Amino acid sequence: MRRKITLFAAIIVAVCSCAQSSGFQKLDEWTKVWKEGQQTYFGYPVNQRSELHDFYEWYLSTGMDVINLNNAGDPMTDEPWRMSSHAFEREVIEFFAPLYGFTKDGVWGIVTHSGTDGNNHGIYFGANYLFNKTGKQPVVYVSDEAHYSNMRLCDLQNLEVKLIKSDAMGRMIPEELEKALDTSRPALMIFAMGSTFKGAIDDQEALNAVLDRHPEVPVFRHVDAALFGGYLPFTKYKEMVSHEKMRFDAIAISGHKFFGIDSPSGLFLCTREVYDNQNNFNVTYLNSNMKMINCSRDAIQPLKFWWLIQKVGYDRWSEQANGMMACTAYLKQQLEKIGWPCWCNEYSNTVFFKRPSQEICYEYTLALGYDERFGGELAHVVVMQHVTKEKIDKFIQALVNQSLKAE
Ligand SMILES: Cc1ncc(COP(=O)(O)O)c(C=O)c1O
Repeated sequence: MRRKITLFAAIIVAVCSCAQSSGFQKLDEWTKVWKEGQQTYFGYPVNQRSELHDFYEWYLSTGMDVINLNNAGDPMTDEPWRMSSHAFEREVIEFFAPLYGFTKDGVWGIVTHSGTDGNNHGIYFGANYLFNKTGKQPVVYVSDEAHYSNMRLCDLQNLEVKLIKSDAMGRMIPEELEKALDTSRPALMIFAMGSTFKGAIDDQEALNAVLDRHPEVPVFRHVDAALFGGYLPFTKYKEMVSHEKMRFDAIAISGHKFFGIDSPSGLFLCTREVYDNQNNFNVTYLNSNMKMINCSRDAIQPLKFWWLIQKVGYDRWSEQANGMMACTAYLKQQLEKIGWPCWCNEYSNTVFFKRPSQEICYEYTLALGYDERFGGELAHVVVMQHVTKEKIDKFIQALVNQSLKAE
């Protein structure tokens, strides 16, 4: 009897390990690297606790995996295209619109391919809007600590950029904006929310006060909120991402960061007024006015967003966002406790600190930075959903062990 059970167990193990193998050694080894590395993936702003397992089960079980899907066209029209997931995409935009201070009737938006794609739309829409209103090309103002995609996209769109100095913590300096402001041309503002390494958020109220002192300058405000735009709406800081409170015209957020979509995606939202002042491209074969940049667009990412709205939703995203804030404070406190120099911006889930050994940077996939004002070599942790207190304790212990070894 015992032999039979052992044999049965061996068969189960063999079947399970067979099911996990792709049949390609290279692919299996690569999977192993990711499965192990995911646990200590501390340096980059992605949620490593994606909750899409049952989405994939549904997708495979219904045979959707053999169907080619495409969302070319405008999801916000009254007659969404039948052979698309536009109806779901529109529901996603309408779910998020009030979280970013837009009204249901006053918003236009799409699910994008990434935060960069959202920034591309923000910059393109902003430049067109200002040109169509004034007949003049705008000047772009963006902080020197903003994500590089903004500078790259301005280069791509052939726009003149003035890089505005930021303070030591990474926020655009309002006085520097005022000095640089060209009052003879419209201003396309890009607000960093937040900056790439230090996780700084530009002070929109202070920067708006500068712009308000120059009413002769027409302004378009785009917010690059790739990471912070995900969690701030669920915290006490929600007004910082409100169009109504902060007066921005457009905002871009990544879907694979806070929201936990398992591959690049994002949201782009702007006012209807901005949308209405874009250049028309009436495309007969698509039966659509194609104001957005891309023709083909992913039809599956809107479904994943929609799925997560049903399965995770407002309450659990709130729990996660506030949990992340608590873990960020915990990480900073624990670093201070062991005397490890560290810094963190208010509202931010990014803690930057004196760079540890190469081994620790490698094990925790830390992102690296450099700033003489903070002692030179730095690294940062972005506290996402999978960076728990238990993992932080292990990380701190690794730093303590490094210090002991050095003594
Ligand atoms: C502030 C900011 N903007 C833009 C991006 C680019 O976003 P994506 O990687 O979704 O294209 C990032 C990525 O980390 C970011 O942190």
